[in-house]
Amino acid sequence: MGTTIFAEMSALAVTTGAVNLGQGFPDVDGPREIAEAAVAAIREGRGNQYPPGAGIPELRQAIAAHQKRFYGFDLDPDRQVLVTVGATEAIAAALLALLEPGDEAIAFEPYYDSYAASVAMAGATRVPVTLRPPDFRPDLDALRAAITPRTRVILLNSPHNPTGVVFTPGELARVAELACEHDLLVVSDEVYEHMVFDGTHLPIASLPGMAGRTVSISSAAKTFSFTGWKVGWVTGSPEIVTAVRTVKQFLTYVSSGPFQYAIAQALALPDSYYASVAGDLLPKRDFFCDGLAAIGFEVYRPAGTFFITTDVRPLGYADGMQFCRELPHRAGVVAIPSSVFYDNVEAARSQVRFAFCKKQEVLAEALARLEAVRPAGP
Ligand SMILES: Cc1ncc(COP(=O)(O)O)c(C=O)c1O
Repeated sequence: MGTTIFAEMSALAVTTGAVNLGQGFPDVDGPREIAEAAVAAIREGRGNQYPPGAGIPELRQAIAAHQKRFYGFDLDPDRQVLVTVGATEAIAAALLALLEPGDEAIAFEPYYDSYAASVAMAGATRVPVTLRPPDFRPDLDALRAAITPRTRVILLNSPHNPTGVVFTPGELARVAELACEHDLLVVSDEVYEHMVFDGTHLPIASLPGMAGRTVSISSAAKTFSFTGWKVGWVTGSPEIVTAVRTVKQFLTYVSSGPFQYAIAQALALPDSYYASVAGDLLPKRDFFCDGLAAIGFEVYRPAGTFFITTDVRPLGYADGMQFCRELPHRAGVVAIPSSVFYDNVEAARSQVRFAFCKKQEVLAEALARLEAVRPAGP
């Protein structure tokens, strides 16, 4: 799955000196004062020993306050919030807590590669529902058709990696109706919640009937550009949070003590900071999309996240995997073949994903290098 190709592509980036637009991490760290807050916590001996299992109270309160401020949720920080090792552990712990061997979990594909691994670790079966170009909108009839008596969980990710789709309120309402009708749980991965350019992010937990059946997951990685700190969280009903915490206890027990203090401070940053997250990315999205289109890529402009999905057929390639393997040598750029995010690889055979969470000059350099794949003129 994805892990192999990420490792292969990152290694290629190093050996060829390519611009790495493969993995989704920014090339600039988050706010200086937040980094200083982590340093201060270490120096002052806050969080250097095992923090509480659910996370330090300051961070749980800050997460609850964030959910209130942006979405109007009233959460009890002691019973409805759990701090995890990034969203990745939250996803694994949630799926291990909620799925039994033989259960089915439906996920819209393409999907973040840990979903498949976590469903497999739970002994359950993943059932993909494919998002298709050009708009990658969820096919809700296909979702309905995928539900069986064994279905237990719908895995949702909006804003969506890698397509950049942001589910509309109407689409989320339909997913919620199906979940209620079939008594399903929804694991909602919202790590790109503050990276929306077109539309708005609506947590599915806010819809009727969903508060008690949704595991809401997010993380500090993307919002605050500290992907290496691995501070994530789960919010939900006390019953759901207890179930996830019980699994987390035996996966990692606790984590990231001093970083938890820093992220508690980060979550309280003013609205202007949050606005800047998407605000800073938007011109990069347009610059990079326009540049790729001018070279000849078919570009699917994302409504959210920091990924762009393209199709390389107009460049004369049928296979995105082959394109990505050759690209570092031909052009000095690394990208990821989207087929690694699919079970149904044929659905994305010619698609390639670029991450644009990079400095403007890095994006400009990448575009200059990508001129090497421009098809020869008539
Ligand atoms: C959809 C999605 N979920 C979760 C994660 C991982 O988040 P974290 O670094 O907090 O574990 C990523 C990272 O790329 C992602 O794209």
